[in-house]
Amino acid sequence: MNTLFLPALEHLQNRGRQIAAGIAVLCVGLLGAVYIGSSPTAVAPRDAAERFVDSLLALMTIEEKIGQMTLFTTDWEATGPTIRAGYREDIRQGRCGALFNSHTATFTRELQRIAVEESRLQIPLLFGYDVIHGYKTIFPIPLAEAASWDLEAIERSARIAATEAAAAGLHWTFAPMVDISRDPRWGRVMEGAGEDTWWACRVAEARVHGFQGEGLGRPDAVVACVKHYAAYGAPTAGREYGTVDMSERFFREYYLPPYAAAVRAGAQTVMTAFNDYDGVPATGNRYLLTDILRKELGFAGFVVTDYTAINEMVPHGVAHDEQEAGELALNAGVDMDMQGAVFQRFLKKSLQEGKVSAAQIDTAVRRILLLKYRLGLFDDPYKFCDPEREKRLLLNAEHRAAARDMARKAVVLLKNDRNTLPLSRTARIALIGPLADNKSELLGSWSAAGNAADCVSLLEGLRAAGRGTVMHARGCDIEGTDRSGFAQAVATAKKADVVVVAVGEAAHMSGEAASRTRLSLPGVQEELIEALVATGKPVVVVLMNGRPLAIPKVVERATALVEAWWLGTEAGNALADVLFGHYNPSGKLPMTFPRSEGQIPIFYNEKNTGRPYDANSKWTSKYIDSPNSPLFPFGFGLSYTTFEYGIPTASPTAFRPGDTVRIRVEVRNTGSRAGTEVVQLYVRDLVGSVTRPVRELKGIQRIHLSAGERRTVEFTLTEADLRFYRRDMTWGSEPGEFDLFVGSSSTHGQTVRITLLP
Ligand code: NOJ
Repeated sequence: MNTLFLPALEHLQNRGRQIAAGIAVLCVGLLGAVYIGSSPTAVAPRDAAERFVDSLLALMTIEEKIGQMTLFTTDWEATGPTIRAGYREDIRQGRCGALFNSHTATFTRELQRIAVEESRLQIPLLFGYDVIHGYKTIFPIPLAEAASWDLEAIERSARIAATEAAAAGLHWTFAPMVDISRDPRWGRVMEGAGEDTWWACRVAEARVHGFQGEGLGRPDAVVACVKHYAAYGAPTAGREYGTVDMSERFFREYYLPPYAAAVRAGAQTVMTAFNDYDGVPATGNRYLLTDILRKELGFAGFVVTDYTAINEMVPHGVAHDEQEAGELALNAGVDMDMQGAVFQRFLKKSLQEGKVSAAQIDTAVRRILLLKYRLGLFDDPYKFCDPEREKRLLLNAEHRAAARDMARKAVVLLKNDRNTLPLSRTARIALIGPLADNKSELLGSWSAAGNAADCVSLLEGLRAAGRGTVMHARGCDIEGTDRSGFAQAVATAKKADVVVVAVGEAAHMSGEAASRTRLSLPGVQEELIEALVATGKPVVVVLMNGRPLAIPKVVERATALVEAWWLGTEAGNALADVLFGHYNPSGKLPMTFPRSEGQIPIFYNEKNTGRPYDANSKWTSKYIDSPNSPLFPFGFGLSYTTFEYGIPTASPTAFRPGDTVRIRVEVRNTGSRAGTEVVQLYVRDLVGSVTRPVRELKGIQRIHLSAGERRTVEFTLTEADLRFYRRDMTWGSEPGEFDLFVGSSSTHGQTVRITLLP
């Protein structure tokens, strides 16, 4: 017998069909050996996993191989999970190797049973799901988590999401999304880390580590999927699924690094983007998927498309029909087709017609099977399907406590006139607004298996934490023009010491397919705020939303303003912690807030231009009807205490490659309570062979200072931190002068100059 087939044969025997399987395998194996001919399966195997996978590959029919490259969704109806009748048969026939939107230990076990007991080769299914910010215990949306600037907490959030997901039968999450975006019209900004590349890289690494934990194969680790490769975050005009057109320099410098960081951090899968890039849809873009991803970044896992992204290459206008689209995708470097069934329907024909090769198919299947092997699914396909574990872990007290901790760290205090916040615990509070007594919206977009019923509303949180009275009136809906609740809201406000008004977006307004052209508060919410302000009471506006909003009037009228994003299951408790001052807010904006939509795209790391802004000169880069400056800059956020910064120093001020520059700044807590500050370091390259941004984030330090405490914060910088794509597109630094800017936001700080010597 050919020893090539032994590991796979053992697998089949272990799964309990010794004699029948043995005979079947031998026959198919012999046929397989003929079929594979000179395919890469003949290449000397490198480890046990590869030996196993090669032996399995040798037994597979072309239909079974294509089945491994096919991912289908199940449905989740109000009554529970469902799967289209045909899919069960697909699994049984080996025509579908992976499913998504199927979860819970029981349902995944039921489906897995079909694969490993009824299909010929008993290859286990891979179960994926969009576990974006929690599985059952819902954490703040990723943009909000990024506002915490706390990498440990971000990693822990992903770890808990993975622990719960894995306990619910899942192997694979379609996260992290690492798309940079400078355009808040695009609804999916809620799912990323904001506009800055350096920070997005750090967050991407933390989330990959969190999801994949101590290593794949452990029962609490899920495979990360970096998405959406590439440049999905830059659709023209912020319109979902829109065209992306940017220079290669711009792409490589700002958009590519977070995908690269996630791959370096060990992410085992990558999802293609829907958009085209430089005229070629990402899903059929060989330059992106093979030249950059495989050859430059060394990615060794598998590439899955986004939902029907292969089929969409027909309307994109780069393929005449779906068969051709499938060929484009495979030839570009796609391994798995999500939901489009293009590979399933046409790939065999493409092979017969010589449009794709058997070796390409084997390569894709090998990557997928290797991952299944490394997850331990061939040893125990049910290792993720343990209802007892599921029950014990989901939404347990420890997870809820971590979600609360993360949520309060994500809150950004944007304004606090007359120290209106924190509220006195004995205050009479009028809690108004459509999001005050709401649970479902607080979970935000992509809330996986999260239940609104498990979420703590702001009303519940305030009532549980305070000792005073919390009166409540809704005032209005999120959308619509109904003002009939205003009178009651105003009457309630008049009886109170302070008004807290919870306004914002509904969860469906940010996320996928949720681009907006107007970034004001929807409906009549801004009018409601006006009516409350007119009572003369202090008005604390609590914003719940998935993107930066353009709300200059609200900012002007509010006495205090709190950006609460969508904070997840523990939203109400976390907000009560912040509003009553049990937690001193420490979040900072990971995305610039515009004054108006007309300023978009707006971002802190812009270029200086040849005619930089000058208030006294018309002929400079500016608007005639708006300041250039944003409503709130990147990195901005207040605290209940105040921090004073000394003048930063650098040592040495002139340095060479190989040297380390130490930048020190003294930060003093000048207020009367302890607080956490996010100290930020930015760089500006004064003269380069190409134009450079006026400021680029290079590091942050999150420090906790008690009242009156002072601390010297130290950053280090080397020549490597000053590299960029030079005029000739080589990556490196250029000697010269650099301004280092150290401060509490991208616009509040002081500068020290250093020189990089040749
Ligand atoms: C489409 C989205 O773009 C992607 O992010 C998601 O993972 C898939 N659908 C699967 O739900």
